Amino acid sequence: MQNSRDQFSSQFGVLVAVVGSAVGLGNIWRFPYLVGVYGGAAFIIMYTVFVVVLCLPLMFSEFIIGRRTQRNAFGAFKVLAPGTGWWGIGVLSVVASICILAFFCVIGGWTIEYMIQSIMGGFSTDHAVLDQKFDHFITSPSRPILWHLLFVVLSAAIVVAGIKNGIEKYNKILMPLLFLMIVLLAVWGLFLPGASQGLAFLFKPDFSKITAGSMMAALGQAFFSLSLGMGCVITYASYAKKDHNIMKVGSYTCLADVGFSLLAGIAILPAVFSFGVAPNEGPTLVFVILPRIFAQLPFGAILAFIFFVSLLIAAVTSAISLIEVITAYFVEELKLTRRTAVIITSSIAAVFGCLSSLSMGVLKDVTIFGYGFFGMFEYLASNVLLPIGGLSIVIFIGWVLKKNAVKDELSSGGLYRVPLLGSIMFILKFIAPIAISLILLNAIGFLRLF
Ligand code: TRP
Repeated sequence: MQNSRDQFSSQFGVLVAVVGSAVGLGNIWRFPYLVGVYGGAAFIIMYTVFVVVLCLPLMFSEFIIGRRTQRNAFGAFKVLAPGTGWWGIGVLSVVASICILAFFCVIGGWTIEYMIQSIMGGFSTDHAVLDQKFDHFITSPSRPILWHLLFVVLSAAIVVAGIKNGIEKYNKILMPLLFLMIVLLAVWGLFLPGASQGLAFLFKPDFSKITAGSMMAALGQAFFSLSLGMGCVITYASYAKKDHNIMKVGSYTCLADVGFSLLAGIAILPAVFSFGVAPNEGPTLVFVILPRIFAQLPFGAILAFIFFVSLLIAAVTSAISLIEVITAYFVEELKLTRRTAVIITSSIAAVFGCLSSLSMGVLKDVTIFGYGFFGMFEYLASNVLLPIGGLSIVIFIGWVLKKNAVKDELSSGGLYRVPLLGSIMFILKFIAPIAISLILLNAIGFLRLF
């Protein structure tokens, strides 16, 4: 039975897939606006430090759990800690996947709309018009739903085809394309008049911007951007082969993720400064501010199209990893066929996604704890489920799994060297649990740091 399980064909295949999962809306849509809101270089430094110090060990932990057991996030804990309640992390991972898909695929749908708009007629140069247009679009009960459903179907189609012939194959095509496009946009950003101001904002730190609030935001962003804390990496790692160097793949993933975020920042922020726009616009930065900038540039329509295609590619390669988390669970634990599992998973994503899309407009008044559906899914996933999942995973590897098992898996059974094992274990045992507890307490309001 274990032998019949699909696998990635090579170590490179694992790497592109995990990078594909990590690099998503988080890097291109969320990172630049957070950098804008939280003060530029200081935020980037905090984010990078958190990636290296906290996320890398957590990334290794998820790789260990997945590759060692060759099972979905739920089954993995039943194998590693039978007769205990650790499988709860698997339940959390399925619930978190649904929550993230429910808002992620809606934004994925928005990128389709903007991709089409960028070639059909282009954008206005008037801020008020663009703002109103965006608002009108996201609150409408039909178009965003249509694009959202198309986005879910596109992603599901890739997952149905399997690990090697679906996820690996499409990531191998889409990720290099995404990389090329982002590099092109970043180079373009560098040559805009006035770009230096944007670059100074990105790379010259103003340390007074380091506050408890911006620190929390940077840590939360690091988790989300690396797809950590809910078994997504566990699931992908379960399709890695026993001789793949998981430490190398994990490290390269972190490097690639930070790299993509910086490239997205370089593509977007110099342009924002060059047009004299304030960078702290927030979530509407890429949907309202950027179109206006594109509209004022020569070849702006082409650049806008390339930008929104990139955003779409990044979103699809991440959404498939979320769909795979639930699919793997259905296939292995409930013995469904892959096709049935994907159909059920994407139907769930579609239904919750519709609710969250409608919560921008007609369902605006339906609130749960003061949040509309969209806001609730995002809050629950990013502020509650991911930190709880991340905390549980580091505690599991730091305190429950035997150190020998950790070493054995990190070295792929002695094939590779494991540098800094002591430091990694120290972080997993002490530093990461404390740091993650702090975000969690802050996020759910027990600790008011900002
Ligand atoms: N990392 C992706 C992004 O940056 C989103 C994502 C995919 C994700 N899988 C995840 C986030 C798992 C948290 C957990 O867009």
